[in-house]
Amino acid sequence: MKVDWLIVGAGFTGAVLAERIASQLDQKVLVVEKRNHIGGNAYDYYNEHGVLVHKYGPHIFHTNSKKVRDYLSQFTEWRPYYHRVLASVEGKLVPVPFNLNSLYALFPPKYAERLEEKLICTYGFGVKVPILKMKEAKDEELRFLADYIYKNIFYGYTIKQWELTPEELDPSVTGRVPVYISRDDRYFQDTYQAMPKQGYTAMFGRILSHKNIKVLLNTDYREIVREIRFNRMIYTGPIDVYFDYMHGSLPYRSLRFEFLTFDREWQQEVGTLNYPNEYDFTRTTELKHLTGQRLPWTTLIVEYPQAYQPENINFEPYYPIPREENRLRYSLYEKEAAKLGGSVLFAGRLADYKYYNMDQAVARALKLFEEIAHG
Ligand code: FDA
Repeated sequence: MKVDWLIVGAGFTGAVLAERIASQLDQKVLVVEKRNHIGGNAYDYYNEHGVLVHKYGPHIFHTNSKKVRDYLSQFTEWRPYYHRVLASVEGKLVPVPFNLNSLYALFPPKYAERLEEKLICTYGFGVKVPILKMKEAKDEELRFLADYIYKNIFYGYTIKQWELTPEELDPSVTGRVPVYISRDDRYFQDTYQAMPKQGYTAMFGRILSHKNIKVLLNTDYREIVREIRFNRMIYTGPIDVYFDYMHGSLPYRSLRFEFLTFDREWQQEVGTLNYPNEYDFTRTTELKHLTGQRLPWTTLIVEYPQAYQPENINFEPYYPIPREENRLRYSLYEKEAAKLGGSVLFAGRLADYKYYNMDQAVARALKLFEEIAHG
């Protein structure tokens, strides 16, 4: 077989690049995917109860990029959806990220009112204040509030999620956790927040439907790379695997998902409930909130964080671990990639060893396409 491009991986990065190259450059693309489906981690399917579920954890689309939204809108209609999350704290359900409503969910009304006034006076309304900054407030009650949130909402969740204390993680992670001085309970504040109306897999089916694209599932590219003739390659798998771990393996955090179906219409009042302090799992997500499906029963995803084991095929690499030493190791691989002189292009969350939201993965792919198209 002869193609212009071999693309490894049928997630957002691989699929968007395949579509752009096929439709804009009129070149032939073979997409090779080792899993038995397209869509990468955004893959969704109907379970045995007819509930549309996300196999690799809940995926909620949100972006400020009109370009990304317009691009994807060629392949899907949207259902508006604003995600909401409540954290279980001392038996109460509290909106997160922590905002003014959270004060009233936790504290007696008079005290909540006083804290609200102090927050607005000190920082202004509509402002997101990093929790570490609030810990240094002059006002004693604001420092108490920052400590309370840190201890009861942030610390336990971080330990479960990463098996590291917040101090052991890169300050870019801890520094970002905000207190939102607003009544806006939405988990995201992006301009565009919506779910693909028929689901992600249907959208990927349309992205990859161009006549210049062929998709080969259930195939690790290494099994076929010698049998295919191609000019250039785009690789969206793990960069350390590409280079046979020559600089050691890049650490990831993994997850185990449990899917529970209940014989009642709704199980929880919002999309996601976080459990910072109780249980082994971090959060439960009720998919019907996200997808808008109406059924008399419901399915939840329960997420159990776990260490990643590269040699074990049951473990997926999900979150790059944000620590300086890992970034340095990644930079060694980046140098190996540069030595290939552009015959192989590396992109995506696994090849860039970087957490991307879906819109960031699409933006990265569109930008790389521009570079390819303009030589
Ligand atoms: P992705 O991992 O999707 O695709 C890479 C593909 O390459 C995979 O399908 C893999 O099988 C394939 N591959 C690897 N090696 C191969 C080989 N040797 N041969 C053949 N194929 C190979 N984002 C967001 O915006 N909102 C959200 O709510 C969430 N939620 C979320 C939850 C969880 C638990 C995680 C881990 C991530 C999210 N995300 C998210 C992020 C989202 O999953 C991410 O942006 C996309 O998956 C990135 O797409 P990529 O194509 O880069 O990687």
